[in-house]
Amino acid sequence: MAGIVVIGAQWGDEGKGKVVDLLAERADAVIRFQGGNNAGHTIVRDGHAFKFHLIPSGILHPDTLCVIGNGVVVDPAVLTDELDGLRRQGVDTGGLRLSANAHLIMPYHVLLDHAGESMLGKSPIGTTKRGIGPCYADKAARLGIRVQDLLDEKILKKKIAAALEPKRLSLRPFAKEIDLQQITEDYLVYGHRLEQYIADTARLAWDLLDAGRTVLFEGAQGALLDIDHGTYPFVTSSNPIAGAATVGAGVGPRDIHEIWGVSKAYTTRVGAGPFPSEIPGELGDELAEKGGEYGTTTGRKRRVGWIDLVGLRYAVRLNTLTHLAITKLDVLSGLPTIQACVRYRGEEGAVFDHFPYHQSMLHKARAEYEELPGWEEDITAARGPEELPQAARDYLDFIADYVGVPVVLVGVGPGHEQNVWTHDDVRAETPAA
Ligand code: IMP
Repeated sequence: MAGIVVIGAQWGDEGKGKVVDLLAERADAVIRFQGGNNAGHTIVRDGHAFKFHLIPSGILHPDTLCVIGNGVVVDPAVLTDELDGLRRQGVDTGGLRLSANAHLIMPYHVLLDHAGESMLGKSPIGTTKRGIGPCYADKAARLGIRVQDLLDEKILKKKIAAALEPKRLSLRPFAKEIDLQQITEDYLVYGHRLEQYIADTARLAWDLLDAGRTVLFEGAQGALLDIDHGTYPFVTSSNPIAGAATVGAGVGPRDIHEIWGVSKAYTTRVGAGPFPSEIPGELGDELAEKGGEYGTTTGRKRRVGWIDLVGLRYAVRLNTLTHLAITKLDVLSGLPTIQACVRYRGEEGAVFDHFPYHQSMLHKARAEYEELPGWEEDITAARGPEELPQAARDYLDFIADYVGVPVVLVGVGPGHEQNVWTHDDVRAETPAA
C-alpha cells in the first residue's frame, strides 16, 4: 500500500502538474486535497497542451480514478466548463469523483474577493480573485454550501439565504447581481450535471489504500503560501502542505508513505509579499521570458528569483519531504554563474539561515548567495544524470546537500518525457520514466 503526496515547496507554480502526471502512471487514484481554481497547470502530451484548474491531472490516464477531495473549494461553473473542454478533446471523464463534502464557490464569494482586494487599495494581496478566501471563510464560519447541497432544492435555497444574511452590508454594491432565486436555479443545474460524479471520496481512498493500491495526493499552490506557515497575510486561504492531505482527503497520517516536494531550479512568486531572493531588473525579466513565467490561471507575469534554499529547507521540514523534484533546470542553461540563496541578512546586519517566523523580519530579509558555475550546454535532450554537464550536476548536489533530501527527478523541458531520473530505484517504479 502506498500513499504518495506531491506538494509545491515554494510559492506555487513549481510544475507539480508534470510530476503528478508522471507519478500517476503508477497510481490507482489521484486526489486533490485543497485549493480550488486558483491553481492551474498545463500538461503537454504528444505536443498537445491540456490546461486544468480543478480536475486532477491524472484524468489523462484512462485507468486512474481522479478525485476532487473534501478539502477543495469547487466553482461548479469552472468544473463543468473543464469537463466540457476535456470531452471536446476526446478525453474520457468517467474516472472523475467529486467529494460530496467539498465546499462550493458561490458567485458572491467571487464578488467579495474582488471587493476585498479593492478595499486594500495600494497594498492588495494579489489574489487570483476566484473567490477562494471568502469560500474558505464561509466554510470556517459554518455558512458554506457543500456539493451535497446541490441535490436538494429546499436545503440549497435555505443555506444560500443564510449565507447571504451576514454579508448584506458588504454585498450592497452588488445588490443587482445577487438574486437568491437565480443563484439557486443555476446551482441546481450544476447539481444535475455533476450528480454522476458525486461520491463519498474518503471511503474510496480507504478502499484503495486498504487493498494495497497506490493513491497520489495532489497539492496545489506551495508551502510558502500556506495560511498557517507561509508568508501571512500574503498566502492562500488553505494549507498546501503535506499534512493537509490527510484532512483534505479524509485519510490518516499513516496512509502517507512518500512525500514529494517540487521546486523550480529557481524561484517564482505571483502576487504580493516578501521574496528575499527576487532578481530585480533585466536578468529577472529574461528568466521570466525564458521560463514562460506567466500564470496559467490569471496570465499575470510572475516575479522571478534565484533558488531560495532557506525557504526550501523550511519546506522540507514542514512537509517531511522524502523526495525532491527540481523542475525547469533547462531555463538556467547559458548563465555564466548561478546564485543559490543560503542565508538571509536582516535589519542591522543580522544573518540567519532559518526561515523567520516573524513577518517584520521576513519583510526585511535579503538573500545572501553562494555562487556556483553555470553551464552553456542545451540540456533539454538529457535523459540520464550522466548526460548533464558537470556544473548542472554540481548544482543539483548542492541543493540536495543543503536541504538534506535527494533530488530524484529533474525537469529539463516541458515535454512529458523531458526528465532526468537520478535514482534508478525510483525510476524503476515509474513505468514511462
Ligand atoms: P488566492 O489563493 O486567490 O486567495 O490568492 C492568494 C495568494 O496566493 C496570491 O498571492 C496568489 O497569487 C497566490 N496563489 C494562489 N494560487 C496560486 C497558484 O496556483 N500558484 C501560485 N500562486 C498562487
